[in-house]
Amino acid sequence: MAKRTTKRRSATHDVADLGLAPFGVRHIEWAARAMPVLGQVRERFAASRPLAGLRVVGCLHVTAETANLVRTFADAGADVALCAANPLSTQDDTAAALVREYGIAVHARAGIDRETYYAHIVAVLEGGADLVVDDGCDLISTLHAERADLLDHVRAGTENTTTGVVRLRQMAAAGALRIPVLAVNDTRTKRMFDNRYGTGQSTVDAVMRATNMLLAGRTVVVAGFGYCGRGVAERARGLGAHVVVTEVDPVKALDATMQGYTVMPMADAAPLGDVFVTVTGNRDVVTGDHLRAMKDGAVLANSGHFDVEIDVRALRELAESVVPAVRPHVDEYVLADGRRLLLLADGRLANLGAAEGHPAAVMDLSFADQALAIAWLAEHGGGLEHGVHDVPEAVGADVGALALDALGVRIDALTDVQRAYLGSWDEGS
Ligand code: ADE
Repeated sequence: MAKRTTKRRSATHDVADLGLAPFGVRHIEWAARAMPVLGQVRERFAASRPLAGLRVVGCLHVTAETANLVRTFADAGADVALCAANPLSTQDDTAAALVREYGIAVHARAGIDRETYYAHIVAVLEGGADLVVDDGCDLISTLHAERADLLDHVRAGTENTTTGVVRLRQMAAAGALRIPVLAVNDTRTKRMFDNRYGTGQSTVDAVMRATNMLLAGRTVVVAGFGYCGRGVAERARGLGAHVVVTEVDPVKALDATMQGYTVMPMADAAPLGDVFVTVTGNRDVVTGDHLRAMKDGAVLANSGHFDVEIDVRALRELAESVVPAVRPHVDEYVLADGRRLLLLADGRLANLGAAEGHPAAVMDLSFADQALAIAWLAEHGGGLEHGVHDVPEAVGADVGALALDALGVRIDALTDVQRAYLGSWDEGS
């Protein structure tokens, strides 16, 4: 198991309360127990110091799991600065511990407004950056829009989430992306586990924690059947819910149908659902018309990266009154006829706003990918073209092998004959 990161000088910061640091340390250490793969990478990096002399700037959800990632950067020799990837997702105890105990410069507080959110991004860029680690592309887009003077010095970056990769590809297509970025989101070890099991469990966890609702026998409408939507649908079904899927992609809709889900347009699902979960990466998925058709007590949860999937403005306009925080992270919107619609975490990422995000055991894989990708970029990033690149296959394979090792699972290896067969074309039936 990796040793505790050495205590450093207290770093620049804007956190809610440094007095929360002792609990934050316990929280971070607890998460570390479920992150053996990242722990092995951290030990390796503490010996080889692949980030010595480099400044790594991250814009990530400031959770105990992220704390273990940035500790890995610090132990690898980096000077690290961190801000939040969402105004609601910061764990204030974790932020305090990172500053006070681990010497990381953190600018993040839970519940900040939009202005402070962007001010924090600008603040962490203040000291420049050699490598950037993003979750949603707000750091990289701000770097280009507001601190283009730093770009020549930035060697490369990574992006952790689907929405961020989509945005980066748009930037690249428009000729606007001026650094190379590795799409860590797209590695098999990230997408197959984090997006599916992580989003699935943490989203259902958020609905249950926030509402204490029994899901058995309820209708849960899942909008979007990508890896994340599939994960939510599987977990909700596992708890006995009747799951309805809405999609715009015919192949994904077909897949959902063949997996036994009921598939229909949102307009048809709106009057049926007890819970609505949006995970599409697109805007206006639940509109005013849909809200008008919903049942009394319907729960609205978004687990897509941005708060654009549920039309919260339409919800405000429809409501005669609002009962804020009817339970923690739940606002009750009361319509003219008395129906109540329950919005989780302001329509922002419910799994991070109303629960704790993905469990550490799944972030272990994603963040081991991140750590190895950043170390790879420290060595090779300077030689990459500007644009979005896949993470080298060897990095993901390394994470898979380390994870199996940590779980004590052994697998077969290709024989020389099998390897040659896979590389041939002339042998048929
Ligand atoms: N994204 C989703 N869950 C997360 C977590 N626990 N930590 C950091 N980023 C996350």
